[in-house]
Amino acid sequence: MNDNLHQLRCFGCGARIRGDQANPIFRCVECDDLFEVEYPGWNQLRGTDRPNAGALKWLWRERRASSELLDRSGVWRFRELLPILDSFGNAVSLQEGNTPLYHLPRTSKALGVAQVFAKHQGMNPTGSFKDTGMTSALSVAKERGFEWVACASTGNTSAAMAAYAARAGMKSLVIIPDGKIAWGKLSQSMDYGAVTCQLATDFDGCVRVLTSIVQQAPIYLLNSVNPYRLEGQKTPALEIAEYFDWSVPEHILVPGGNLANSSALGKGFREMKALGLISRLPKISVIQAEGANPLAQSFRDNGGQSIVPVKAQTRATAIRIGNPASWRKAAQVVLETGGWCLDVTEGEIAVAKAELGREGIGCEPASAVTLAGLKKLVGEGKVAPSDTVVLLLTGHTLKDADYTIDFHRGTLLKPEEAAPVLPEMEALRRDAVKVEATPEAVLARLKEIQGGWV
Ligand code: F0G
Repeated sequence: MNDNLHQLRCFGCGARIRGDQANPIFRCVECDDLFEVEYPGWNQLRGTDRPNAGALKWLWRERRASSELLDRSGVWRFRELLPILDSFGNAVSLQEGNTPLYHLPRTSKALGVAQVFAKHQGMNPTGSFKDTGMTSALSVAKERGFEWVACASTGNTSAAMAAYAARAGMKSLVIIPDGKIAWGKLSQSMDYGAVTCQLATDFDGCVRVLTSIVQQAPIYLLNSVNPYRLEGQKTPALEIAEYFDWSVPEHILVPGGNLANSSALGKGFREMKALGLISRLPKISVIQAEGANPLAQSFRDNGGQSIVPVKAQTRATAIRIGNPASWRKAAQVVLETGGWCLDVTEGEIAVAKAELGREGIGCEPASAVTLAGLKKLVGEGKVAPSDTVVLLLTGHTLKDADYTIDFHRGTLLKPEEAAPVLPEMEALRRDAVKVEATPEAVLARLKEIQGGWV
């Protein structure tokens, strides 16, 4: 059976090509811009290729009770909206997606916004949202007969790629910036058997090296310039809409690094609206770290029309990216949905991460920019008390335990970074202390803690 109904459309000049005609770097030969996957059959008003909204809502819900491998995946459960394979039998899945959406009662109360939720993409098989895009793009690589896959990464893409490649029996090459990725992530690519190269450059330098490599060797590029990554990464939008019974929240906040995730979520909501699954779009806002903020800067300077790359610097290493590949797509999503793009400081990120920890949720630093950004939007009156807000938490808290420990030990931030958030920070810090091995000593420690039960 041929399930494949897609073509690629250049985001810049609109040129259309067949999926298998893309060059190894997934750039348009006419204008050098990126492609996005499009499904021509969906434009027909009726016909067998246009998905039927009512039937799909029912079918996708039914699949949650199925024990079939594809149905158990929170990505392939929605396969009618990602017909990118000749046969879905070629899908490589680790049962990704179907991640939890948590209400955040303390955050809601503190901000005076009744309905703040966290969609925790860190609860995916390798601990980040990258799994949703890896299952789709790596499955295409496998179907097209590639033996090798590769990516440049700040750590999560490489962890996901290495795992999915291992599942598929393929070989993977990981290119990462030396010393600038979290240990949890580095350990994963080793564990899953990738060939891991640490380069003495930053993420943007790693991308340049890999771009050259894939043009010289038959290696399939799995960075997010690969449009099939975004197809899987749009499915959390479907899960969110389904959770709210197809009436979407007012706001979605997403961390911005290479800017593919915001692009993918925007595509997901846009397609759902075009197909009649939802009736309006949520406002999608992209939040960056102050030291890696080219899109936020672009919105301040020229309304998201052009970008000036920056030399990126942030402890949220996942989003330490100065020249984001998908900035045009992300800017369009922000503009078309009426959202915002802003940046937050190192101190604000650290406090927001600890606050999410106190909710019993936890996440990696890059994910916490969303809560820090929400506080700013609320402060500027851009979020109403009655609004429903969903924060996209992109990575698991155990990815970067060093950051958490440094925060609680008080060694994470420089004094000038900590100063503006000092009271909040001190209220949240809970360092581990060495205590004598007696009940009396432990009880004495409890007495020392303000608000303890003794
Ligand atoms: N959050 C986490 C935890 C990430 O790992 C990334 C990106 C982002 C947010 C930003 O998403 O790039 O789509 O805007 N990590 C990439 C990587 C770059 O290599 O793992 P984006």
